[in-house]
Amino acid sequence: MHMGLYAVFCATSLLTISLLVLESLASPLPAPGRQCILNFCPNFADFPSRGKARPTLPQVLLKTNGQRLAYGLQPKPPMRRLWARKATPTTPEKRAPSPLPFAPPAVVPVERCGIVDLRSENGTSFGYVGQESFGGGLVSLNDTLIGALPICFTGDSGQTLLEGITINMGSWNLTDDFPLLGLIQGSDIEGSDIGPGSFNYLALGGIALPGSPPGSVPTYLNNSYTFTTGENRTAESSVWSIDINTGEIMPRWTNPNGTQPETFMFSIGGELFVGGDLEAFSTHFNQEIVPLAFHFEFIA
Ligand SMILES: *[C@@H]1O[C@H](CO)[C@@H](O)[C@H](O)[C@H]1NC(C)=O
Ligand SMILES: *[C@@H]1O[C@H](CO)[C@@H](O)[C@H](O)[C@H]1NC(C)=O
Ligand SMILES: *[C@@H]1O[C@H](CO)[C@@H](O)[C@H](O)[C@H]1NC(C)=O
Ligand SMILES: *[C@@H]1O[C@H](CO)[C@@H](O)[C@H](O)[C@H]1NC(C)=O
Ligand SMILES: *[C@@H]1O[C@H](CO)[C@@H](O)[C@H](O)[C@H]1NC(C)=O
Ligand SMILES: *[C@@H]1O[C@H](CO)[C@@H](O)[C@H](O)[C@H]1NC(C)=O
Repeated sequence: MHMGLYAVFCATSLLTISLLVLESLASPLPAPGRQCILNFCPNFADFPSRGKARPTLPQVLLKTNGQRLAYGLQPKPPMRRLWARKATPTTPEKRAPSPLPFAPPAVVPVERCGIVDLRSENGTSFGYVGQESFGGGLVSLNDTLIGALPICFTGDSGQTLLEGITINMGSWNLTDDFPLLGLIQGSDIEGSDIGPGSFNYLALGGIALPGSPPGSVPTYLNNSYTFTTGENRTAESSVWSIDINTGEIMPRWTNPNGTQPETFMFSIGGELFVGGDLEAFSTHFNQEIVPLAFHFEFIA
């Protein structure tokens, strides 16, 4: 499985198109020159210096519709017309009762890969979801782009708000056994529910395949925290909502009673958590927290 991801990362980092997106974002970028941000492809990642004129789209790289679809673009309209015209006269017996002038674009799964940038409430970057697990088998944050965790997820083409999404982690140090980025019941709480008035919280960690389907209630999935600590904790894996246009990533935890409360992400030290009531959490645990937003940055 993760060999496949490696292949995707390496093949697609060739596309300089991704650099356009990185350059347009407010977060800090590394110094110009050749450097590898994803560990896999030391020869490919080459960051343009900041403030340079924005390069034009490398159209030549997206010649075929297959290539276009792979990067979340619609097929070229003239090609669609061509196919529709060709299909009608050669197979008259199969003609639809009310043919449309254009075939609707086929919905195909599109894989997107990138990293997760963390932003604090004042809009500044607060590091990235990192690729080194904290003690306890939890996913933690890393200050530097070179330590950012590569992720991939798949959604239908043409759809801009993806819900109940599974995120695959490209390379954190427990990827082989726990490749899905999921939410795990907090270590020192009872019950698996979060919500207003409750100090209960969840941690970010890895879930073993196949994970849980979207909307499923908390279950004892094999997860990196339980595996590392021996503490039996519930988890969910297909919990991510991703807005393709804005890059916003939100976790959607399903409570045991089936409700999906509003969620808030935060950090304490280098660790990442999700809760339903930040004030209740910080009061109960007497902790200073940094509220965060998760932002997907498209790499390939
Ligand atoms: C923005 O918020 C973060 C987290 O609270 C803080 O560390 C940082 O100093 C703030 N930056 C500015 C410019 O206020
Ligand atoms: C993963 O990295 C963390 C932090 O460096 C380390 O404590 C842990 O032992 C590593 N785990 C594995 C399985 O390599
Ligand atoms: C951040 O990532 C870099 C590169 O992988 C690593 O050397 C560093 O220890 C990481 N920092 C933390 C706090 O995990
Ligand atoms: C969880 O996954 C680990 C790593 O693959 C495995 O060694 C362990 O036996 C699994 N635990 C359960 C309860 O399935
Ligand atoms: C975890 O606890 C649940 C509920 O008590 C139980 O069904 C499950 O077998 C436990 N799993 C492990 C690995 O102890
Ligand atoms: C479901 O559980 C949550 C968390 O305990 C609670 O806040 C909410 O009121 C419950 N909703 C229903 C309809 O039972």
